[in-house]
Amino acid sequence: MKNLLVAVFALLLVHAAVAATLTGHWTYTAQRSDGQTRETSLWLKADGDLLTGYLTNNQGSLPIVHGKVTGNSIAFEIVRDDLGEERKTEYAGAVNGDDLVLHIGGAEGRSMTLKHVSSDTPPAMPAPAAKISLPPAKEVPYNGLAKTPPMGWNSWNKFQSKVTDKLVREVADAMATNGMKDAGYVYVNIDDTWEAGRDAAGNIQTNEKFPDMKALADYVHSKGLKIGIYSSPGPKTCAGYEGSFKHEEQDAKTYAAWGIDYLKYDWCSATQVYDYHSMPAVYAKMGSALLDSGHPILFSLCQYGVLKGWSWGQSVGGNAWRTTGDISDSWKSMSHIGFDLQADLYPYSGPGHWNDPDMLEVGNGGMSDTEYRTHMSLWSLLAAPLLAGNDLRSVSPNIMEILTNKEVIAIDQDALGKQARRVSKDGDLEVWARPLSDGAYAVGLFNRGTSEAKVTARASDIGASGTLHVRDLWAHADHGTMSDQFSADVPAHGVVLIKLEH
Ligand code: GLA
Repeated sequence: MKNLLVAVFALLLVHAAVAATLTGHWTYTAQRSDGQTRETSLWLKADGDLLTGYLTNNQGSLPIVHGKVTGNSIAFEIVRDDLGEERKTEYAGAVNGDDLVLHIGGAEGRSMTLKHVSSDTPPAMPAPAAKISLPPAKEVPYNGLAKTPPMGWNSWNKFQSKVTDKLVREVADAMATNGMKDAGYVYVNIDDTWEAGRDAAGNIQTNEKFPDMKALADYVHSKGLKIGIYSSPGPKTCAGYEGSFKHEEQDAKTYAAWGIDYLKYDWCSATQVYDYHSMPAVYAKMGSALLDSGHPILFSLCQYGVLKGWSWGQSVGGNAWRTTGDISDSWKSMSHIGFDLQADLYPYSGPGHWNDPDMLEVGNGGMSDTEYRTHMSLWSLLAAPLLAGNDLRSVSPNIMEILTNKEVIAIDQDALGKQARRVSKDGDLEVWARPLSDGAYAVGLFNRGTSEAKVTARASDIGASGTLHVRDLWAHADHGTMSDQFSADVPAHGVVLIKLEH
């Protein structure tokens, strides 16, 4: 009995000790390639099994909700509603000595290790700064660009902060000679992490990875290609670099002076400074600035589809707008974004203004060639921007064949610019179709299931009639004619992509 009491007492002591260490300040510092740092900090208070406090990062401070302590483990949620809809993120963590290992998005999520800084009781959470509300903007005239969906390459999916001047030159060299340029890929786009601060006159500076942006643009142009860049309407980009807040016109002029042909403009920290209802006006500000910059610059909006960006993207001068959060190199991510989240968006896209389901992951290694063919087929049916996201300096023949299949690219680039609709769905089997400028139809017979299945496309669903010749765009083969319907055995996660011609 005495032993049991001692054990219970010891357990209580351990629990109290854990609770005491949990209360206090914990920080995680991310080192960036340019030597700067970015901090996430947690102020916690453990009271029995109740956990309270707040999280602070470059987006500001948010209270933790549903916080719970279990032994040395914690779980809580952070709810963001700064984009007009509530987005909840789950956090789960455990204390291990002076470390707090935190999983983001539940126990299976990405993790970060926070260090114990102090055991002080949390001070009051900093009040959020008052946000700017802009009046509705006047419509920004069309810049005449992107009559067909933009095609090119972007550094982010494969290289993130490792993008450099040298890499961009090497990718441009590769594109000019490996068949990518011939297939229609022209933009070489630098994503986030090129920025430094500003000089005394407020001019945006490049960091040491990009010693001379004008010289780089000249080099890319000398290859017969175009060059793109990235910024945010907020004070900081998503990776915490300098944004264009309060420098929109100046930055647009700088891009023009460098010879930049494409801007991806990513909402990110704009959330901290603008009321989200101002989002269209915030984008219009840069849309006008680009128009007045003196150089044609394609304007690509990146605000993850919040506030139904597709319904106002064109009016702010956008040539394309992201419709979802970030893609990752997995079947789950690609198929969810491509099939589930695009099905209702076809009315909003057309020549000069395109829905953007995010950049290609083809060739990055997380999917099979069959799945990458599905990715490329679906994006082409969707009239999506085709921005390769892999390392174009070394591409296997299989992947090059997927990226440069001219019959498939012709669907994406069709002059009519009509995005495909999902014309039938039977469980995992889906048929998507779009009319083409020459009176033909492009039709994708997709199998999202895990075993081979027969998929049938019916002329009545597609809106086609008469006798149609069937051309298989991956097999590069003619499959005779069809009148009422066409069926094909489609591999798991695969596609049969056909063109139906009179
Ligand atoms: C956001 C965008 C990505 C990429 C990163 C860069 O997450 O959606 O496509 O540009 O920012 O920080």
